[in-house]
Amino acid sequence: MPIITTNSGSDILGRYYTKNEISSFLVEQFDITSPVRLLDLGAGSGSLSCAAKTRWPDIKILTVDIDPKVDLPTIPTKQIYDELSHEHFVVDALCENLSTVLNCTNAPIDIAVCNPPFITPKWRNEFSSILEDAGFLDCLPFPADVDAGLLFLAQNLRLMSENATLGIILPDSLITASKYKKFRATLLNTYAITKIIQLPRGSFHHTDALASIVILQKTKNHQDAVRVYCLNRNKSLSKPILVDISSAAERLDYSFHFHRLHTIDVTSRRKITLHELAAEIKRGSLSSAQVKNSDFPVLHITNINEGDIGQWLDFSSFETEMPDDYSNIVKAQPGDILISRVGRNLESKIVGVMAGTFAVSDCVYVIRCSPSTRNTVLAQLASREGRAWMSAHAYGVAAKQLAKKELITFPVFLDERKDV
Ligand SMILES: C[S@@+](CC[C@H](N)C(=O)[O-])C[C@H]1O[C@@H](n2cnc3c(N)ncnc32)[C@H](O)[C@@H]1O
Repeated sequence: MPIITTNSGSDILGRYYTKNEISSFLVEQFDITSPVRLLDLGAGSGSLSCAAKTRWPDIKILTVDIDPKVDLPTIPTKQIYDELSHEHFVVDALCENLSTVLNCTNAPIDIAVCNPPFITPKWRNEFSSILEDAGFLDCLPFPADVDAGLLFLAQNLRLMSENATLGIILPDSLITASKYKKFRATLLNTYAITKIIQLPRGSFHHTDALASIVILQKTKNHQDAVRVYCLNRNKSLSKPILVDISSAAERLDYSFHFHRLHTIDVTSRRKITLHELAAEIKRGSLSSAQVKNSDFPVLHITNINEGDIGQWLDFSSFETEMPDDYSNIVKAQPGDILISRVGRNLESKIVGVMAGTFAVSDCVYVIRCSPSTRNTVLAQLASREGRAWMSAHAYGVAAKQLAKKELITFPVFLDERKDV
């Protein structure tokens, strides 16, 4: 029976191993000086455990992986996986009785590291108990469609002893998606979150998924704020941003809060949301499959070049007679602004339509403003600040997406003398 339904990449077990420098960085984040027994669920080739063993040579290590072919350790020159200090279990980390299998009651776990698979496992009833024990069952809108990251987090919390510390890598969905807002609020209110560090893309092998490290303690703690950092591409740690708990439940990523704090409100100009200003904001109606099979031209994100950002372009080559049964599909027309809804560089795909009336794919938003404001809107969407806003409000582990409910909140600054 397959255990996986969906997956953010192509590997069915989500085997995107952590690069060694990120593993070392992660274990450096713990304040604990001499931990005794470490758990590594979904250990893969042991990158995180190896880093832990390098920092604390006397530590006992428990590794768990469902994949019988994992090859431990990744650093064969260091004979660190000797029999006494390392036990490995080929078992499903999400089974309800894992505590018994690992003998956690008699040999308590005081530290855990984890980089869970980036997948959505096929739901099993025992997941309810795992989520419930960690306090997360009631905060998920669709428990049956939960990221493995959340299940692995909950399982770690169940297995760890009181006051134990966990360093876990969570995918961007858990850090930013609105469906996980209640989960984030519960996490922040139930456990002591020491810090959150957004990782640069390229931190894992074979994927450039976005993720953050979360360091937390299994301790009931009242917290007013949480420290959020980012690891820069040159591997230096940013200064922390102190984020209050309600803003942290909103989103936990450094780039969002950095942008929020550094955006200057231009008070001399009137600020209005795109929703209030635009007559229409629509998403195209044709799916990628329909675009592929269509016998008339449809503008897709691949037809918007990053180099054309902010320009009014002639799209009349996409204009064509459309069959009658397509009369209701979303079309762009001269004066409209087009924005890519998905893709790694969506914030660079923003153009205006100078000429042409044509169908667009569902990966494109069509924004229709009055003739007096459309130039201002395009310029501000395509500006450096506009692109930074777009990037901070997009979400997604691999390819980014910009939700319509975010896009409509884009702030437009109107100059009262020109824009009416
Ligand atoms: C993202 S990789 C991380 C590997 C390693 N911890 C690292 O950081 O390099 C996730 C690992 O989880 C394992 N895995 C996937 N589903 C699992 C499950 N249900 N139980 C145990 N391990 C699982 C995969 O085989 C893979 O080795």
